[in-house]
Amino acid sequence: MKKSYYITTPIYYVNDIPHIGHAYTTMACDAMARFKRLDGYDVMFLTGTDEHGQKIEKAAHAAGLEPKAFTDKVSQNFRDLAKMMNYSNDDFIRTTEERHYKAAQHLWRELLARDEIYLDKYAGWYAVRDEAYYGEDELTDGPNGKKIAPSGAECEWVEEESYFFRLSKWGDRLLQFYNENPDFILPHSRRNEVTSFVKQGLRDLSVSRSAIKWGVPVPNDPKHVMYVWLDALTNYMTAVGYPDTQSDAYKKFWPADLHMVGKDILRFHAIYWPAFLMAAGLQLPKHVFAHGWWTNEGQKISKSLGNVINPHELIEAYGLDQTRYFLLREVPFGNDGDFSRAAMIARTNSNLANDLGNLAQRSLSMIAKNCGAVVPKCGEFNQADHVLLNKAYGLLDHVRREMDVQAFHKALDAIWLVIGDGNRYVDEQAPWALKKANPERMETVLYVLAETLRCVAILVQPFMPDSMGKMLDQLAVPDEARDFTLLTKEHALKSGTPLPTPSGIFPRFVEEVKE
Ligand code: MSP
Repeated sequence: MKKSYYITTPIYYVNDIPHIGHAYTTMACDAMARFKRLDGYDVMFLTGTDEHGQKIEKAAHAAGLEPKAFTDKVSQNFRDLAKMMNYSNDDFIRTTEERHYKAAQHLWRELLARDEIYLDKYAGWYAVRDEAYYGEDELTDGPNGKKIAPSGAECEWVEEESYFFRLSKWGDRLLQFYNENPDFILPHSRRNEVTSFVKQGLRDLSVSRSAIKWGVPVPNDPKHVMYVWLDALTNYMTAVGYPDTQSDAYKKFWPADLHMVGKDILRFHAIYWPAFLMAAGLQLPKHVFAHGWWTNEGQKISKSLGNVINPHELIEAYGLDQTRYFLLREVPFGNDGDFSRAAMIARTNSNLANDLGNLAQRSLSMIAKNCGAVVPKCGEFNQADHVLLNKAYGLLDHVRREMDVQAFHKALDAIWLVIGDGNRYVDEQAPWALKKANPERMETVLYVLAETLRCVAILVQPFMPDSMGKMLDQLAVPDEARDFTLLTKEHALKSGTPLPTPSGIFPRFVEEVKE
């Protein structure tokens, strides 16, 4: 049986227009999901939309719509984003779906039955923007006497009847769990902020709202709706069949291998979620990875500053695969990063047009011109040939190690080192000069280049599926011969295989000169 791999994105608040931040989180998951599929795993890759809560209720009313009609309309924006970015998600969940109500309410009943939930009254601070409760000690004074959360969100005072989850009793168990599973929170540099929050002592968590209507109804108490984070986190189980824990999907995919999240929502995923699951007697996800945030030309991205980066515009200006590549290559994954046009253009031109584009273009056009448009004949390999090919065949192990810890930039770096070696090999071997003097050797050199390109293109597929698909077409590699088991010399290109006419894959980006 195939090994399974379950990866999730956060589910996005539907009221926002999809921007680079959303595209980034899902892009990282898409690269992981595609990588694992090519590496022989049965993958479940989930994304979707978070549609309940006070924030959405407010946004719907501001748009003059009932929340249901509003969310039906705007959740489409996120499906469109997934399509536009060529994400390979296997499912798209909406928390307003029937299957999700069933799952969320079941989890509630489980928690209630285990006496993990009790009815009381909440009096404290709430930030609608974050849909989060904050303790007085966490807040600072803002202008107009407002209280401000560490995230910068404004808080309001809330007093309402509320159900509480006994979070306070799970602190020690959580700390023990982090200790026993040192890779649960990734990158490791983020562990401290979680453990110190838990060590300060956890307060019981309000898990229902009675002042708002838009949410999953609390079973047997229609005055309350579930707190949106308890509802939202459950989506990860809904999608694999919960509450049917005997279903094939659940047995195969739960617990999830990786929840990918932004650093702002780590607390919910690394504290609340495992506590809910432990309390319900369910298995905990294996890893939570918190990535950094993008700024735009050095500034925080926000609607009010009007500097939101729309992925659609990036694709229009620079190309789809160029955008996908840039997002995961420019910034070490886990760190914050800055978007700038200059960086985007520099990356596209140097790594794609120059390094990879040139290697492919030079090799394939020489083959088309000088080898009768078939995979060249392959003579005896010399030392230089062996060195390059061994590096190409050796890449998978290295890239896999980096991908397993979501070091996308390092995985790409490793591949680009071989691309650099390939370009140096062309210069050193100078196949154009061999044409007359030693045509056999010229064919061997071009063969080595084509074979190196095959390995590179197969490995880069998770990041740039369309372009690498084209490159593999140009090498006449059939669709069924593009997974990682084919990355060995036993599956090398066969001399004499007809090749289609090559064409450039990565054009150089030329800045329009304004008159
Ligand atoms: N609905 C919650 C998640 C619930 S998961 C059970 C939520 N949604 S969100 O739409 O506000 O944010 C979704 C993701 O987008 C978060 O992981 C967040 O970190 C990410 N980003 C939003 N802006 C971002 C940047 N400027 N840069 C990088 N990612 C950022 O939170």
